[in-house]
Amino acid sequence: MGKKKSLLDRERKLYEKMRELWKRGQSELCEVRGSVIHGQGVYATQDIEKGTKIIEYVGERIDKEESNRRGIDLHEESLETGGAAVYIFTLDDDIDLDGNVPWNTARLINHSCNPNCEAWIEEDQIFIHALRDLKEGDELTFDYGFDVDCYEDHPCRCGEPECKGFIVSREQWPELERRLKKKQAKKSGKKAGKKAKA
Ligand SMILES: C[S@@+](CC[C@H](N)C(=O)[O-])C[C@H]1O[C@@H](n2cnc3c(N)ncnc32)[C@H](O)[C@@H]1O
Ligand SMILES: [Zn+2]
Repeated sequence: MGKKKSLLDRERKLYEKMRELWKRGQSELCEVRGSVIHGQGVYATQDIEKGTKIIEYVGERIDKEESNRRGIDLHEESLETGGAAVYIFTLDDDIDLDGNVPWNTARLINHSCNPNCEAWIEEDQIFIHALRDLKEGDELTFDYGFDVDCYEDHPCRCGEPECKGFIVSREQWPELERRLKKKQAKKSGKKAGKKAKA
C-alpha cells in the first residue's frame, strides 16, 4: 500500500514538473503557424509593444562537451535531411541551453536579416523580446548570428529587402559581402576565360 502511494506521489510530482515546463515554453502573446520563411514559425497573436518579453526560450541545460557533441550530431543530421540544425544557446562559460524539446515553442522562431525580436539572457534564463512594435499576425524573427565561415550551408529566405541571401550574423555582413564579391569575380573570370577560348 505504502509502495503504491509513493509511486503515485512520484508520478504526480513528475506530471506537475512536466506541466510547469510546458507552461514555461508557451505564451499567450504568440503561437505556432505555417511560415512563409520556412516550415513552421511563431506568430504574434496580438499587437505587442517594443521591449515586451514575449516568451521564454526553454530547454535542457547541458555542459559544453555535451553541447559540442549534440551540435555536431545535429549538423550532420541536418546535412542529410535538410532539417533544422540550431537550437543550442550559450548561457555562460560552462553551460549551454539545448532548446530542442517539444515544449519549447520559441525553438520554431525563424531567422531574419531584419529581425523584430532578440533573445536576451537574464540570470540563467533566455527570453525573446520585441525589438519594435509588432502587429497581430506578424511572424517573430531573430538573428541566428551564424558564423560567416559556414554561410553556404544556410541560405536565407527571410524575404526582407535587405536580405543577404545567407543566414549570417549582422556583424559579419562586411566579411560576407567580401566573400560573395570574391566568389562572383572568380565566376566572371572563368566565364570570360571560356569566351576568350571560344
Ligand atoms: C530552429 S529551426 C526554426 C523552425 C523551422 N522553421 C522549423 O519548421 O523547424 C531553424 C531552421 O529553420 C530554417 N530557417 C530558419 N530561418 C530561416 C530563413 N530565414 N531562411 C531559410 N531557412 C530558415 C533553417 O532550416 C534552420 O536550420
Ligand atoms: Zn535574409
